[in-house]
Amino acid sequence: MWSLSEHTAVVPPPNLSESRTNILVADGDDHYRQLYSDLLQSEGFETFCAKDVDQALTVLRQGHIDLALVDGTMPKTNGMTICRELRSNPETRLIPILLFSSRKSTHGYEMKIEMGADADAFLVRPKSGTELITQVNALLERKHLSDDVETIEKLLLTLAQVVEAKNPYTAGHGHRVSRTALSLAVHIGLSSEDQELVRRGALLHDIGKVGIPDDILLKLGVLEGDERAIVKSHPLLGERICAPIDSFRPLLQIIRNHHERLDGSGYPDGLRGSQIPILTRIVSVADVFDALTTRRQYRDSFSRTQAIQQIRREAERGWWDLDVLHALEESMAKPPARHAM
Ligand SMILES: [Fe+2]
Repeated sequence: MWSLSEHTAVVPPPNLSESRTNILVADGDDHYRQLYSDLLQSEGFETFCAKDVDQALTVLRQGHIDLALVDGTMPKTNGMTICRELRSNPETRLIPILLFSSRKSTHGYEMKIEMGADADAFLVRPKSGTELITQVNALLERKHLSDDVETIEKLLLTLAQVVEAKNPYTAGHGHRVSRTALSLAVHIGLSSEDQELVRRGALLHDIGKVGIPDDILLKLGVLEGDERAIVKSHPLLGERICAPIDSFRPLLQIIRNHHERLDGSGYPDGLRGSQIPILTRIVSVADVFDALTTRRQYRDSFSRTQAIQQIRREAERGWWDLDVLHALEESMAKPPARHAM
């Protein structure tokens, strides 16, 4: 058993030294809970202690926690309940979790396997204060980076919404496409990771329109040849905008290729059949469905039934995936989902 006096102070990363960072210390062992709390406070962190799952959940619901240090074997169910609670709530899903087992047996490793998807790091009861603080700082540094990426994503989404809102006929397009595409992905049975890519990719699919001049983007009437080519450059512009951000890499295919058609008549690459991944096919159909079911200056909106009939005609012509169309028909037969995006 180690003590605070044996601990050599670890210098925190520079971006953590400016402001207080709140850490939940959830540990059923009174000695270790106090030891960890004292240690973290000596490093400049604010700590909130919990001796069981109920107390931990109360702390999490009350305040802003930046990191959770959780004993996976604590009383009242166990600490893994805390991990699941954190990950299932959109407000707390990005909080780093440092999970540890207070038992030295193989139980700790079983727990690590079970919680692999939820915990960010795992320790069998930390052997020294230095080990614990090093892990805490590494997780917090990673969180700062992911916070930055999340901020960039929000900024881009806002930018996309601003462009949509310039035209009353396209306002809210990204969110509607995202909702429809997500329901198709769920209906088709894609993994939760792919569902999330579809949701995010659909939100950002038209981000490239920020680079299209307003006089072309908002033009009433028929576009001239050059103007049409400029509008059709938006998938490539969108890809270029998002490419520098690592976490957007899995979305680039959707952004670049959402106007492709299975028969090769789409743009910008003229991809055919299996060259177009299922995530992109889903967003394409959701995109067309939204375009048809919203009013344009030159026509009224289609009803859902009319839109599906139109997409079926286009699918039979070789443009869209029939399985995705089938999922659209089935998902539209259900009452609209009420969840907010
Ligand atoms: Fe588009």
